[in-house]
Amino acid sequence: MIVLNGVTKKYGTKKVLDDVSFKVQGGEFVSLVGESGAGKTTLIHALIGATDVDKGEITVDDYEVSSLNRNKIQDYRRRVGIVFQDYKLLPKKTVFENVAFALEVAGYEKDFIKKRTVSVLKIAGLEDLRNNFPRQLSGGEQQKTAIARALVHAPELLFADEPTGNLDYESTDSLVRLFRKINQSGTTVILATHNRGVVDKLKKRVIKLESGKVISDKENSGYN
Ligand SMILES: Nc1ncnc2c1ncn2[C@@H]1O[C@H](COP(=O)(O)OP(=O)(O)O)[C@@H](O)[C@H]1O
Ligand SMILES: [Mg+2]
Repeated sequence: MIVLNGVTKKYGTKKVLDDVSFKVQGGEFVSLVGESGAGKTTLIHALIGATDVDKGEITVDDYEVSSLNRNKIQDYRRRVGIVFQDYKLLPKKTVFENVAFALEVAGYEKDFIKKRTVSVLKIAGLEDLRNNFPRQLSGGEQQKTAIARALVHAPELLFADEPTGNLDYESTDSLVRLFRKINQSGTTVILATHNRGVVDKLKKRVIKLESGKVISDKENSGYN
């Protein structure tokens, strides 16, 4: 479970997160919406321990994210999946290698790495593209590779910040289906986006930010 309690973050005198409080249960799918500058990215960064907050607490399962030291943050980050707008793939590695690499650096044995990588490539619908390099992929396929990589440690929680920001309509649609599938398999998904079409299609819980404040929090909702 994710619990935010009175989370406030300032840049200079400007509050970019202003007394943000909400809870997310395991298995939920939450879209975090709001216009550009509303504070979505700052909130995702706070949730993954990439930025300190000035006030309030963030707890994710057993982790008090808002007060973790550097070692514990690394440990926490390995337990969550994170996807960004830019795919951050390694250009000289294939799809398979990009995904497998995350397991190699964690020291798993070869057989396990192969099995696990094949399995997440299948989830992401990338089996046929496993030997392609990133430059041989569409934007949507690159983002799916990034998602497969984020899933490789079987996280209970997946954070995505504007994952469809660089994609056309069809790739976006296909990605939305993938996020839905990942959520249906039990993973909690927190999706920050300003894309109305995506949110309207999902019809899940929508938390809306405006000037750093939560202005609405609705189940089975569209963007508005
Ligand atoms: N490192 C920073 N220094 C100063 N202001 C920042 C910084 N990062 C973000 N901001 C400001 O915080 C506000 C929220 O930004 P952000 O969280 O990126 O919003 P969103 O992701 O919803 O577009 C914006 O006004 C932005 O200019
Ligand atoms: Mg943003």
